[in-house]
Amino acid sequence: MNSLSISFWPLYSLLSLVATAISVPDTEVSTSAIFQVYTNNIRYDAKDLMSMELPWAERKVGVVGTMLAVSANMSTVFALQEVTYNQLLDIKTEMNWNSQSWAHIGEGRDGGVAGEYNPILYNVNEWDLLSNYTRWLSETPGTPSAYKGKCFNRIVSIGIFRHKSTGSIVNVLNTHFCHKYEDSRQFQAYEILKHVDAIGLGNPTIVAGDLNSERTSVAYSILSDVVKEHGDPLELPTVSGFQSGGKGSTIDYVFSKGNLVSLSHAVLDNMLYDQYRFSDHRPVLEVFELAPTLVARACAA
Ligand SMILES: *[C@@H]1O[C@H](CO)[C@@H](O)[C@H](O)[C@H]1NC(C)=O
Ligand SMILES: *[C@@H]1O[C@H](CO)[C@@H](O)[C@H](O)[C@H]1NC(C)=O
Repeated sequence: MNSLSISFWPLYSLLSLVATAISVPDTEVSTSAIFQVYTNNIRYDAKDLMSMELPWAERKVGVVGTMLAVSANMSTVFALQEVTYNQLLDIKTEMNWNSQSWAHIGEGRDGGVAGEYNPILYNVNEWDLLSNYTRWLSETPGTPSAYKGKCFNRIVSIGIFRHKSTGSIVNVLNTHFCHKYEDSRQFQAYEILKHVDAIGLGNPTIVAGDLNSERTSVAYSILSDVVKEHGDPLELPTVSGFQSGGKGSTIDYVFSKGNLVSLSHAVLDNMLYDQYRFSDHRPVLEVFELAPTLVARACAA
């Protein structure tokens, strides 16, 4: 197995060394990383409960229990939506019950700790965070704001991560589009594509989240023209509601672009105590193989 070698030699200097052919440097390709992306709208900590909705203190058993179970055997990056600050603290406390491994990026949509987060949670033993920022999906992406002042503030949380044991790099974006206006969602889809372009750097990129848009929508197609989604309409719908018997719909996705191979895709069920649900959305889980990032190593002798 190849071990990672980090080098400050950019590829172009490697190529020029090869061209002059005095000492041919080693090239080293890291092994690929297998990891999974999990996206789930966990529903905010509502005080006015819907029929069959349990309070957060009880729902969190299922929300976090599922996260712990899926991440037990495979490196996992979590993209969550509708997470209020107290919920984020609870999730991190529970996730870190036996170690201090789980960190998050992202801020609340109303700025700082205010409003719902789209946090990205990652295991610090598995990933190095290279860069991270939050942007608003509005005309003023740098400040808390809503497109045309309508609806709620909507955000994207962005992180660039390096997989520690292989050195491969991946960009991850987590978002939640407007629930009310189609023009807002289309605007937000174009904003996401601008961010995908801006952070591209040739890295494989993942966009996860709740688009409040079905596969037949224009907002979905704006994204899916550029980033690809591997879900199957025969899977469970991602929106379950809390009551049984609803038809449901699919609006939660994991998209990818670049050197990422989708190995499997699943919509997980969200049952809790056999008759309740831990959220009104089901989690989506996709396993990826992240192709090696080429690293160049100069020849020492
Ligand atoms: C993880 O691995 C353990 C031990 O091999 C196994 O018992 C468990 O079912 C696995 N869990 C998942 C979620 O695959
Ligand atoms: C992530 O974002 C926070 C908040 O802006 C910042 O303090 C921190 O330095 C960032 N970390 C990296 C590695 O960019």
